[in-house]
Amino acid sequence: TQSSMSRRVPIEPQRVDAPLTQSATFLVLTITDSPKAVKAIRSTLAGLDGLAKNVAIRDLNASFACTVGIGSKAWDLITKLPRPAELHPFPEVKGEVHTAVSTPGDLLFHIRAERRDLCFEFERQLMSLLDDSVKVVDETVGFRYFDVRDLLGFVDGTANPVGPAVPASILVAEEDSSAVGGSYIVIQKYVHNLKAWNTLKAEQQEAIIGRTKIDNMELDDADPGQQQSHKSLATIEDEDGVEHDILRDNMPFGSASSGEFGTYFIGYSRRLWVIEKMLQRMFVGEPRGLHDRILDFSTPLTGTTFFAPSASLLASLDSD
Ligand code: HEM
Repeated sequence: TQSSMSRRVPIEPQRVDAPLTQSATFLVLTITDSPKAVKAIRSTLAGLDGLAKNVAIRDLNASFACTVGIGSKAWDLITKLPRPAELHPFPEVKGEVHTAVSTPGDLLFHIRAERRDLCFEFERQLMSLLDDSVKVVDETVGFRYFDVRDLLGFVDGTANPVGPAVPASILVAEEDSSAVGGSYIVIQKYVHNLKAWNTLKAEQQEAIIGRTKIDNMELDDADPGQQQSHKSLATIEDEDGVEHDILRDNMPFGSASSGEFGTYFIGYSRRLWVIEKMLQRMFVGEPRGLHDRILDFSTPLTGTTFFAPSASLLASLDSD
């Protein structure tokens, strides 16, 4: 009944649906063998909501948000709770030409704000709590590039779900009771060969992406059996013809002086298999051998899978 429903403890998700911001930090850590590591991490994660509030209040217009993901290997150690049904390490995907590498990561912090200083301040406070419990695998600072473009020059994020489709696409629901309100996360840090990309004509680039460059109009899919665009390869249907969306919060990063130009891919999904199927289609190709041409100009340096549990689960981690 309604009244017994409302007496149930509500499951509060993390801020996985927070908007794209001007600035974002992607922090991937592994756990050290310090004897205090697990305890320190559990209490830091339990207090994460409070830590976020400390920083968010300092500019309420800055849309500060942080979500944390826990890697497959670290899940049991940190949560001591049942595993989300699909959670496993990122599987390497080897195509004929390009490989999606699998790299280590026990914790992912996805830190977002309209202001770089808020991301910095949160990360500073977080790292001082975690201290020698963690080792940094990678820290990438991303920025908004004009009208939400990636460094290939295309608007990135258009086909994301909006409104009620967001929780429906990214939050685990009744299908896995111990993981309810959580979300699978896959990250890949890509670097681009911009020199080579910029030798292509705009029409060639548009055919690779599947959208026009200036005004971001969707192009028709190629005929079956032909080279498909990135957009088509990343569109996933199940056996019943139902399309499954994911939420992407990609950010450009780089440094012109060192010649590093990249896209940090981050995808949130209710179903891990959907992102893995996208990677299969991109790297192996559909049909097999016709891989995503974006990969001829983009190389993933990392590839790691995490699960972002509900905020309620995080808050409970303090009790031993
Ligand atoms: C669409 C860029 C990697 C999944 C797009 C679009 C761009 C883009 C420009 C079209 C606009 C939009 O809908 O956002 C990139 C770049 C990548 C990258 C620069 C890295 C080099 C990936 C990866 C995945 C992925 C690794 C999944 C594993 C998608 C999906 C769409 C999309 C699901 C929307 C397809 C649709 O329904 O129209 N991407 N992408 N992308 N991408 Fe990527």
